[in-house]
Amino acid sequence: MRIVLGVSGGIAAYKVVHLLRLLREEGHQVDVIPTESALRFVGSATWEAISGRPVTTGVFSHVDEVRHVRLGQQADLVVVAPATADLLARARAGRADDLLTSTLLATEAPVVMVPAMHTEMWRHPATADNVSVLRSRGVDVMEPADGRLTGSDSGPGRLPEPMDIRDRLSGHFDPGADDVECEEPQPLSGRRVVITAGGTREALDPVRYLGNRSSGRQGLALAEAAVAAGARVHLILGTVDVEPPAETDGLRIEHIESAAELKTAVEAAVVDADLLVMAAAVADFRPASIGEAKIKKTADGTDPVITLTRNPDILAEVVAARDRTGTGPTVIVGFAAETGDADHDPLDLAREKLDRKGCELLVLNRVGTDLVFGRDETEIHILASPRVRESLGTETPQTVTGSKSEAARAVVDAAARLL
Ligand code: CTP
Repeated sequence: MRIVLGVSGGIAAYKVVHLLRLLREEGHQVDVIPTESALRFVGSATWEAISGRPVTTGVFSHVDEVRHVRLGQQADLVVVAPATADLLARARAGRADDLLTSTLLATEAPVVMVPAMHTEMWRHPATADNVSVLRSRGVDVMEPADGRLTGSDSGPGRLPEPMDIRDRLSGHFDPGADDVECEEPQPLSGRRVVITAGGTREALDPVRYLGNRSSGRQGLALAEAAVAAGARVHLILGTVDVEPPAETDGLRIEHIESAAELKTAVEAAVVDADLLVMAAAVADFRPASIGEAKIKKTADGTDPVITLTRNPDILAEVVAARDRTGTGPTVIVGFAAETGDADHDPLDLAREKLDRKGCELLVLNRVGTDLVFGRDETEIHILASPRVRESLGTETPQTVTGSKSEAARAVVDAAARLL
């Protein structure tokens, strides 16, 4: 796991050196971010020697790497120990005045705070209020231990023992890690995956829209398969006719309605993603104008005319931007729902689409009015672009017949092999 260990300025910082050693011995990569005042208690040299990683405290070091955002974005877990009263207050306020608080704002990983301070400071209503707000936001704030403090006084406020902190952190580690059946390394472990699923709705007026028959089942199965493969998944969800799963540490869900909203969400999400899977059924067209008021029947009985305009091709645009800038997901997977016709075989249409979209993999669904949409059984063909065909290690197109979960696992496996 990639762990960020934030250290704020309290004497208990010396005990956290031991915590760092424990985490390193377990094989975790740990980036230590001390605050300026923490360095008065334990210096950079100690943190660097034990973590084996560079240590910075301000937002103006390593600016080229956008370190103030990157460390938080890449972390699987952020722990702050000791968390002083001042650090709790700054975190609660959403300040970003040093590398540690910026990282806390930029991360979507679970955050554990381990307070240490004098009993009076811990019991002060301001601190109690800060702790309760942080907890309400999902931060796991540990209770300090009761015992001897810095001076001769004692009471609650002491930093818990490093082993106890380590045990608390393990509650946020991958839950399958201790399961003997999960000993094989997970194929998407540490990977960031963006999946779009469901249909889009294109507004016609305040009460009507153009939509499609996508149930979202295939996309949700993909999200489930990617989470099971160890990925951190950002699921961008349009309209679905099944209950979406609950969010977890490994699964974040963002809801969108129109193709335009989907485009904005995808572009923001892919910045630090390794894999993008575009399973959403995106409307190719939208009404050229959206009525401000409900469109009414006319007195003379004339039929309304709806003019449509093209939506951007999100998949093709993301591929093009990645290829132009060299940043973005390493692997991009598109979907194609094809019926084929008398002159065109669906596989040929899919090959053509793979070529046109420029993605690495394209998943073909053969569709008809009662095939695929809303059903659990499916047949897919996974096609690979010539560029990556060899590294896939299996023949393409790979055909998978079975449930949408089985199909999803095959797609996730293929993408993982390319990564
Ligand atoms: N897609 C997209 N943006 C669009 C339309 C589609 O990103 N505006 C994505 C879909 O999520 C899917 C892939 O492109 O991964 C294929 O979509 P499809 O609608 O089947 O293909 P089209 O480009 O619309 O081609 P055609 O109209 O010829 O079927």
